[in-house]
Amino acid sequence: MNRPVSDIEKLREELRWHEYRYYVLDDPLISDAEYDQLMEQLKNLEEAHPELLTSDSPTQRVGGQALDKFGSIVHRVPLLSLDNAFSYKDLQDFDQRLKKELDEVSYMAELKIDGVSIALVYENGKLINAATRGDGQVGEDVTINIKTIKTIPLKLRITVPRLEVRGEVYMPKGEFLRLNTEKEEKGEKIFANPRNAAAGSLRQLNPRITAERSLASFIYDILYIEGREILTQGEALQTLRDFGFNVNPQARYCEDIDEVFNFTEELAKERHNLPYEIDGVVVKLNPYAGRSLMGQTIRSPRWAIAYKFPAEEKETRLLDVEVNVGRTGVIAPTAILEPVFIAGTTVSRASMHNFDLVAEKDIRIGDRVLIHKAGDIIPEIIKSLPEQRTGEERIIIPPENCPTCGSGVVRLDGEVAFRCENINCPARLKESLVFFASRGAMDIEGMGPAVVEQLVNSGLVNKVADLYNLDLEKLISLDRMGNKSAQNLLQAIEDSKKRPLHRLITALGIRNIGAKSARILTQQLIDIDDFFKVSEEELAQIPEIGPIMADSIVKFFAEPRNQETITHLKQKGVNMMEEKLVQRELPLANKTFVITGTLKSMTRTQASEAIQDLGGKISSSVSKKTDYVVAGESPGSKYDKAAELGVSILDETQFLDKLNRQ
Ligand code: IVH
Repeated sequence: MNRPVSDIEKLREELRWHEYRYYVLDDPLISDAEYDQLMEQLKNLEEAHPELLTSDSPTQRVGGQALDKFGSIVHRVPLLSLDNAFSYKDLQDFDQRLKKELDEVSYMAELKIDGVSIALVYENGKLINAATRGDGQVGEDVTINIKTIKTIPLKLRITVPRLEVRGEVYMPKGEFLRLNTEKEEKGEKIFANPRNAAAGSLRQLNPRITAERSLASFIYDILYIEGREILTQGEALQTLRDFGFNVNPQARYCEDIDEVFNFTEELAKERHNLPYEIDGVVVKLNPYAGRSLMGQTIRSPRWAIAYKFPAEEKETRLLDVEVNVGRTGVIAPTAILEPVFIAGTTVSRASMHNFDLVAEKDIRIGDRVLIHKAGDIIPEIIKSLPEQRTGEERIIIPPENCPTCGSGVVRLDGEVAFRCENINCPARLKESLVFFASRGAMDIEGMGPAVVEQLVNSGLVNKVADLYNLDLEKLISLDRMGNKSAQNLLQAIEDSKKRPLHRLITALGIRNIGAKSARILTQQLIDIDDFFKVSEEELAQIPEIGPIMADSIVKFFAEPRNQETITHLKQKGVNMMEEKLVQRELPLANKTFVITGTLKSMTRTQASEAIQDLGGKISSSVSKKTDYVVAGESPGSKYDKAAELGVSILDETQFLDKLNRQ
């Protein structure tokens, strides 16, 4: 249904409400496609009526042009930092200092999110600017990037004349892992931890790149507010929630410092299960009255302290180094470690990322090493402990030849990675196949690394499309493959042919295109042929598809080898269309059109095709169920019938408008 322009603000409110439900409450009310449709309608209305566009419109999250450099913003209220506590004793001392001055001491204990501190300014409910902490007095203006973070409201749910808040922008652990894996595949330098990754993403001059990274936020402090009085930190957190901010749900009110300490103990155990990294607990005096009495030093307030968890580091031995070839040909060293329990799991392997790092850290086989988990998830060697060497240790050198196929190893300009450039390298093929068949991609149950290993080694599969040539006889010839398993696997391969296009796009392993972007892309590019036709500029118009992704897609589909793979898959009967469900959610979905008279700009057949492309249906006769009659020159009786039944009649201009704007 198309909304009239008088609905424009209502539409914005609806979209804001759905964003809030989805991103903050994690409890969406409508499907992604329905949300996209609402957004599309709003965009169309704003395009047609640019005078009605507002800066707090949900369409304005990714709109800004890339910057040359960031401006600076002077913080009205300086952004202080915190003193640290490392033990129960430090907490008790802090408590004593407060009790000496104050009659009433109680606390809010909050998770200390390991991200980037930001300050947001709202005027009359609208986000005016957003800045990094900087030196505490002056920060960088990162407003255009902050706007891309969906948990940050562009408009508050309750309007006050002025509000300044502070919070943390962070990168969830899963996104950190995804981004680093992607960087590794591209031979690029990886981020050391989610905090650096968040900071790096926030400091992109092109907001589209920030939008590609799934950043999130927690807001925890009211720096300044007009129009309301806040008496405690607990009340501040609730008020922030009411305004529509994402506030961490784990904050706990504590009567005394022992309760605070118990909370830190609980969290020290729980932290590895959280989807984001925390490095401690921030302990804040709850009553605001006490805060002003305690005051602050130049650097930090006297009413709060950061309790830091001890760094989780363990010593172990590097037993060996395995050299692996990834699906993009990147050759990376993996450490084989004496198993050790750290940050919630037992670790026996760790990526060493690239040979430069190994040399820089002078890590040798046989060394005692210190390990940790970057971002609480990726096991890594921090350093070797050369003082414990016996002289038996072996230096690690990059291979000159691919360990799998023996081709010469190359290093491209500007890359830290060594690569095997042989596209037929069995190691690359195996990785690609495992990825192709994985659950997030074509979901071929039973096609794991062990089966793939055999399929490639036996010569049964030399390229991805060969999977669809397999038959019972061939499969049974594999080790440990019984009749029943072979049949199941064959059925799973057969079933995978029907997967919707977004799964195939994911499975192809296009650089920078993961499952999420594949889904976004196939909402608009519903046939594989659309991917061959689309330009970088057109791709860049799609929300959340940034320039790097656009470039990767165009390059991928221009590459003859990839074209060949797709042709082969097509020949084998693999589905190349997005699923019906998505078809139904196209802009003209379920709309019935009747065409009458002659159109100037296209034939009737072309018009019908254009309607069907957008999900609409064509009928030859007008009834009450008809949504639109398109009337060209010299329309027939259908025109009169439409008028009689009150069906909307579109002239050619209106019709073209509908096609372009939908
Ligand atoms: S309160 C004056 N609360 O930790 C109040 N900070 O070491 C200062 N942080 O720079 C901040 N989670 O970036 C506060 N719940 C939380 C926090 C938090 C993370 C960061 C913040 C600050 C640093 C202090």
